[in-house]
Amino acid sequence: MRNAELSRRSGHAVIPSGVEPAGRRQGISLRLPRRKNFSRSANVYAPCDVLYLSIMPTTDGSQEKTLAALGVTQPEQLAPLFAEIRARFDGESSVARDEATLRQFRDAWLGRKSGVLAGITDNWLKPATPELKRAVGAGLNQLRAHVDAQIEARRMAIESGAEVAAVAKDRVDLSLPGVVRPVGSRHLIRQVFQEIEDIFVSIGFSVVEGPEIETPYYNFEALNIPEFHPVRDDMDTFYVEAQDATGARTAPGSLLLRTHTSPVQIRTMEKRQPPVRVIVPGKVYRRDNPDATHSFMFHQIEGLAVDTDITFCDFTGTIEYFVKQYFGAGVKTRFRPSYFPFTEPSVEFDVSCIFCGGSGTGAGGATCGKCKGAGWIELFGAGMVDPAVYGFVHYDAKKVSGFAFGMGMDRLAMLKYGIDDIQVFFQNDVRFLKQFP
Ligand code: PHE
Repeated sequence: MRNAELSRRSGHAVIPSGVEPAGRRQGISLRLPRRKNFSRSANVYAPCDVLYLSIMPTTDGSQEKTLAALGVTQPEQLAPLFAEIRARFDGESSVARDEATLRQFRDAWLGRKSGVLAGITDNWLKPATPELKRAVGAGLNQLRAHVDAQIEARRMAIESGAEVAAVAKDRVDLSLPGVVRPVGSRHLIRQVFQEIEDIFVSIGFSVVEGPEIETPYYNFEALNIPEFHPVRDDMDTFYVEAQDATGARTAPGSLLLRTHTSPVQIRTMEKRQPPVRVIVPGKVYRRDNPDATHSFMFHQIEGLAVDTDITFCDFTGTIEYFVKQYFGAGVKTRFRPSYFPFTEPSVEFDVSCIFCGGSGTGAGGATCGKCKGAGWIELFGAGMVDPAVYGFVHYDAKKVSGFAFGMGMDRLAMLKYGIDDIQVFFQNDVRFLKQFP
């Protein structure tokens, strides 16, 4: 039953239960008789709210009876009565320890209707015989002076105590050590992006970005990869549905997570006329199962340079410059024929193995585990821009030429920093991240 309901039905005051001892049913309410004064019976568990009631004067307080009923006829009989009430007051006053209990204590004694002193006025003073009246008035005044003074003293003690506690709470101890909040650092992938961007920016490239959700047109068609071209098999990806500006769902297959940063070649050439020299850092996606060298999301840096007089020599020279800046002047580069629909000729760039110095043999004469004895490590795909691509962006293929490359960022970072599992980049284990502050 709810408290309010209990109260209505029984006519009892309901004192909400406070913090109950362990094992007791939670949420029960104590029902206490609605009486002015009552004493707490021994077996009633008293929650906090009830505590103050126990300090109230008991029901059989002498001030509730008239002097006649108490058998008082002579002024001398008054002194012990007042002394007993005063002793009761003194005994109870220590319970008023904070503002709330003091207020309740004060009401119990000085309350205009039901306070003890009001009881003395009503039951002793007013009906007193002329012989007693003077003495009752004098005793009552003394008692009131005592009660007032004591309550005021307690009030001041409580206030100053509260003040002291508040000051102690607010005090700032400047000698305590400060809270050291660890400051994070840039992820290794971010750091390597920056490193590579700096190298290309130093030779006249600028950095551009493009969307990670692409249309098949930019990701494939405009890169000379028509539908059903076998190369699409290598670039299986995630297709997404979205809402267009009118709130309608996009057609199935009309949006995908880009499989490479190459679509930004097209987006850049659509917007700019040659000369174009850009690099494009960003995330790319493929339907790959995660292992030490694969992830469904990884990072690439695309490069594109188009102008009226760019030769294959400019292309290989630029790549070689970058590789030596990134890995060190001691490394060698080589390229092998390859195939990409959007470059012609296409090549695969290799770097001499940075672990065995290109010898193919590791420590102790064993075969180098990194290049598997080849002495070379495959780095990235590249080539001269296929003239067919210029057709999609309305460049004059007879007048312009250029080169493009696409590097796997994660792989470049792994090679340089000796990391043999791509997954650690994405697990965000602080023990790993902390090694690259
Ligand atoms: N986009 C290609 C890939 O992801 C790489 C590439 C970029 C090749 C530019 C040639 C030119 O495999």
